[in-house]
Amino acid sequence: MSAKPTWVGRRLVKVLRTRRIILALVNVLLLGGGGREHAIGWKLAQSPLLGRLVVAPGNPGLARLGLCVSIDPTDPAAVVSLANAESIDLVIVGPEAPLAAGVADALEEVAIRVFGPVRDAARLETSKTFAKEMMRLAGVATAHSETFSEPSAALDYVATQTGPYVVKADGLAAGKGVLVTEDLEAARAWVRDCFSGRFGTAGSRVIIEEHLEGNEISVFGLCDGTDVIGLRPARDYTRLGDGDRGPNTGGMGSFTPVADFGDDFVADTVERMIKPVLGALAETGPSYVGFIYAGLMITTEGPKVLEFNCRLGDPETQALLPTMETDLLDLITRCVSGAAGGARVEWSTQSAVNVVLAAKGYPNAPVGGDEIFGLDKDDDHSLVFQAGTVERTDATTTAGGRVLSVVGLGPDLETARARAYARVGSIDFAGKQYRKDIAE
Ligand code: AMP
Ligand code: GLY
Repeated sequence: MSAKPTWVGRRLVKVLRTRRIILALVNVLLLGGGGREHAIGWKLAQSPLLGRLVVAPGNPGLARLGLCVSIDPTDPAAVVSLANAESIDLVIVGPEAPLAAGVADALEEVAIRVFGPVRDAARLETSKTFAKEMMRLAGVATAHSETFSEPSAALDYVATQTGPYVVKADGLAAGKGVLVTEDLEAARAWVRDCFSGRFGTAGSRVIIEEHLEGNEISVFGLCDGTDVIGLRPARDYTRLGDGDRGPNTGGMGSFTPVADFGDDFVADTVERMIKPVLGALAETGPSYVGFIYAGLMITTEGPKVLEFNCRLGDPETQALLPTMETDLLDLITRCVSGAAGGARVEWSTQSAVNVVLAAKGYPNAPVGGDEIFGLDKDDDHSLVFQAGTVERTDATTTAGGRVLSVVGLGPDLETARARAYARVGSIDFAGKQYRKDIAE
C-alpha cells in the first residue's frame, strides 16, 4: 500500500481542515535547531495532517514555520512540560543528544507519543561497543574491532596492527572522537587523549577497528519498532576543503540521488543490516521507534556498517527531504502507531545538491556576528535552510558553525549543482566558507 496520500485524499483533508471539520490534526513538537531540523520542519509544514508546529529551540528559519521556544531540548522535564503546555500530540526528535539524555523515556512515561528511541535503544549510537555487539549478534557485516577500558592494553594492541589505524572514543563525541591515521604514534596519542578525558566520559572506553577501504554512503530509515521504511541514500562531504582536504567538520555538503544506490540497494540494507540489528536490540529489551541512519562502507567484500545513528544525517537531510514526495508526517504517524509495514515512499524526479556555508574560522575557531546578505532572494529552484543564524531587528547574522544549507534542485545533478552554486553566489557574509566541489 502506498503511504502517499492520493490527490483526492489530500484535497479532502484540506477542505475538511479549512472548514474546521477535522479537529484532530497533529500538534507536533520538533526538537533541535540545525539545518536538518529546518528541513524537517519545512517538510512537516507541507503536511495536511499538521496542526501546530512548535520547535525547541529552533532557529530563525524555523521561526517562520512555527513557534520556537528556547528550552533545553536535552532536559526531559522541560520537554515534557512544554509538550503538555502546548497540547502536543507527537514529539519528533532531530538530534541525538535529547535521546541520549532520556527525553523519549520521559515522554513515554507520561504517554506522549515520541518519534525517537528510548535511551537504551539509542545506545546503537551512544556506544560504539554496544552497536558492535548488536551487529555481532545479528550477523551484520562490520569492521573487526576490540574495545579497551584502560590505556596500556589499548596501546599494546594498536602496536600489533598494521596501518591505517582506526581509533574511536566509544561514546558520543559530537563526531570528533574518531581518528583514522597511517601514523602509529598519532594513533597511540589518540588512545591516550581519549583516556585522559579529551572527550569526557565518551572516551573512557576506546575501540580500535580494522580499517575498511571503499566508498561511503549513508542510508536512512524510519522505524516503528519492527518494520523499517527505507529512504533514499545520500552522500555527504565531511572535510572542510575541496578534494577532501583539511579538518573534519559536521558536514560541508551532500547530494541525492547517488548513482548505483537505488531502491534495491536500500531494500537490501534494510533487510540485511537495519532490521537484523533492530531485532537483536529488541531481544535485549527496548524496541526502536525513530529515525535510523546506517553509515556504510562499500568494500570489495560488499557493504559493511561503519556506524549507526539514531537520527537523520546533517547535511544529508537538507538534500533528501526536498526530493521526497510522500508526506513525512504521515510516515512518522504510522511509525509511532506501529504501522510502518507496507508503507512506500515516493520521490520526485529531481536531484538535489546541498552546499553548506560555514562561518569564519569554522571548524576550529568559529566566529559569529557577521551580517548575512541575500538570504531572502527566493527562486523556484533553490532553498535555503538555516542553522547557525541569529535574527536581530535589523539583520540576520551568523552565529558560528555551519550557518546555512543552500540546496539546488534540478532534473539532474549537474543542473541541481549549478542552481545551488548560483544561489550560493547570491548570499554573502564576511568569512563565508564553502566547498566548490560538492556533487562534482
Ligand atoms: P564513525 O563516526 O564511526 O562513522 O567514523 C567517522 C568516519 O571515520 C567515517 O565516516 C569514516 O570516514 C571513518 N571511519 C570510521 N571507521 C572506519 C573504518 N573502520 N575504516 C575506515 N574508515 C573509518
Ligand atoms: N553527515 C554525517 C552525520 O550526520 O553524522
